[in-house]
Amino acid sequence: MIILGIESSCDETACGIMEDDQRVLSHVVDSQIVIHRAYGGVVPEIASRRHIESIYPVVDTALKECNLTLDDIDVLAVTAGPGLIGSLLIGLNFVKAISLVKNIPYVGVDHMAGHLLSVFLSDTKPTFPFVAIVASGGHSSLFYATSFTDFQLLGRTRDDAAGEAFDKVAKLLGMPYPGGPEISKCANTGDRNKIKFPRSWLEKGSFDFSFSGLKTSVANYVHKQKEITNESRDDISASFQEAVIDVLSAKAVQAAKFKGCTQVVLAGGVAANPRLRELLGKRCRSAGLDLSMPPFDYCTDNGAMICVAGYHQFKNQEPSPLDLDVYSRSPMMLQVAP
Ligand code: KG4
Ligand code: ZN
Repeated sequence: MIILGIESSCDETACGIMEDDQRVLSHVVDSQIVIHRAYGGVVPEIASRRHIESIYPVVDTALKECNLTLDDIDVLAVTAGPGLIGSLLIGLNFVKAISLVKNIPYVGVDHMAGHLLSVFLSDTKPTFPFVAIVASGGHSSLFYATSFTDFQLLGRTRDDAAGEAFDKVAKLLGMPYPGGPEISKCANTGDRNKIKFPRSWLEKGSFDFSFSGLKTSVANYVHKQKEITNESRDDISASFQEAVIDVLSAKAVQAAKFKGCTQVVLAGGVAANPRLRELLGKRCRSAGLDLSMPPFDYCTDNGAMICVAGYHQFKNQEPSPLDLDVYSRSPMMLQVAP
């Protein structure tokens, strides 16, 4: 089965084409980062307009890259939410139009499911059940996954998402958007033990996260300094990064032990952070857990992860109707398991 997946929930217009959930035939991402950088973050109206301009060229390029046409596509998949409503509508309506004209079934998939299942684009695939930590610009959540379509929410952020905290701290330090990659670059040369920033563990046994106190603590620290040299910027970056990933990795390991499973998955844009991959890897090894992660290319938003989620949804459920709507809050995120 050839599946074409489209992702347009935020500031990337992406298209992936896969054979089943096994082989990526093409993968094209048009990032709007340079456009939004001038504003220090994503401007929703500009994002929607840019998706309109780029969606056709992105899909056309993806088809050409693997020498296919729409006549070769068996199933379409598209992100229906969560994300920016205007941006999501471009992808969903584009797919609905192809579905109607070419008579190809389509499925509207959840962006969080896409991130969670992006690990199956890796050579080291996990087996179910597993605990997955999905950390991105919009979410920091822990799931217990028992199949390709069953995910139980164990915890979520109560305020800022991990990626959002990286972006806000980076802005404070005068770095360009998006801040995650910038902070992780500076952190490489900084001392992660230099500043003891607070870790928010919340109540005993809670798998929720909170990063806004940490962000305020970094802001207070920065405002107290006479000047921020390159050296102090690197130390702040490394110490802040360590505070975020300490909590993310500790809670992922605790959640796996709590659920009695031996597999841990790390996904989402923040999964591209090398120090998080290293620390979680180390902690999983000492706890006797196997860690699987998507390749770097598939950590941030892409169309291949939507193909994987769409493939399994199509195998398990009816295709989506033409009156399907987009949504800004994921149903996967509504209720934390008791
Ligand atoms: O998954 P994603 O592409 O979009 C959302 O669904 O939000 O994630 C983007 C987020 C941004 O906040 C970005 O700063 C963060 O992932 N990010 C990183 C790194 N690369 C991207 N955060 C920390 N370290 C990185 N290397
Ligand atoms: Zn994402």
